[in-house]
Amino acid sequence: MSASNNAQITPYISREQIALRIQEMAKKINADYTGQEIVALCTLKGSVLFFADIVRELKIPLRFEFLGTSSYGHGTTSSGEVKVTLDLNSPISDQHVIVFEDIVDSGLTLSFVLDYLRARKPASIKTATLLFKPTALKKPIKPDYVGFEIPNDFVIGYGMDYAEKYREMPYIGVLKP
Ligand code: PRP
Repeated sequence: MSASNNAQITPYISREQIALRIQEMAKKINADYTGQEIVALCTLKGSVLFFADIVRELKIPLRFEFLGTSSYGHGTTSSGEVKVTLDLNSPISDQHVIVFEDIVDSGLTLSFVLDYLRARKPASIKTATLLFKPTALKKPIKPDYVGFEIPNDFVIGYGMDYAEKYREMPYIGVLKP
């Protein structure tokens, strides 16, 4: 597929592979949280498709929370400054929280999000990310549940964007300029 600005999209992870892996991740979460209730926290905007798919595989009582963060703007590298674009609308104190992220790249966003949430005194926090780029990390972050470890390519689709485009793609692709 070719994007309008002459960028090339190479298919990377198919919708079938994503669906299968999400089932496996959910199975592990279901086992780990048996008998507990959780706050399923979606970081906007990129995690929205991952979140929508994985929560439908969870068999534990949960409620939704959304936290909007942004650090990439229209570029392919993090600005280094994470901004909250939408705050939580209910307390999470004394509750078990799982943060669902589409991707951990530099780790700056997840690191910021964890500090931000810990200040609200949850009973526990774990993190689930569909994609993880261990070689790009700039913070000592270790997500608890990882879908796919990937190399340091710029990926789009399945919620992830380049300059707000491609989020609606049902699969994950690599964008080459
Ligand atoms: C993307 C993505 C992650 C973050 C990962 O968000 O959704 O939250 O970057 O990158 P990092 O590990 O280098 O911080 P972005 O800031 O682009 O906002 P978006 O979710 O609205 O696309």
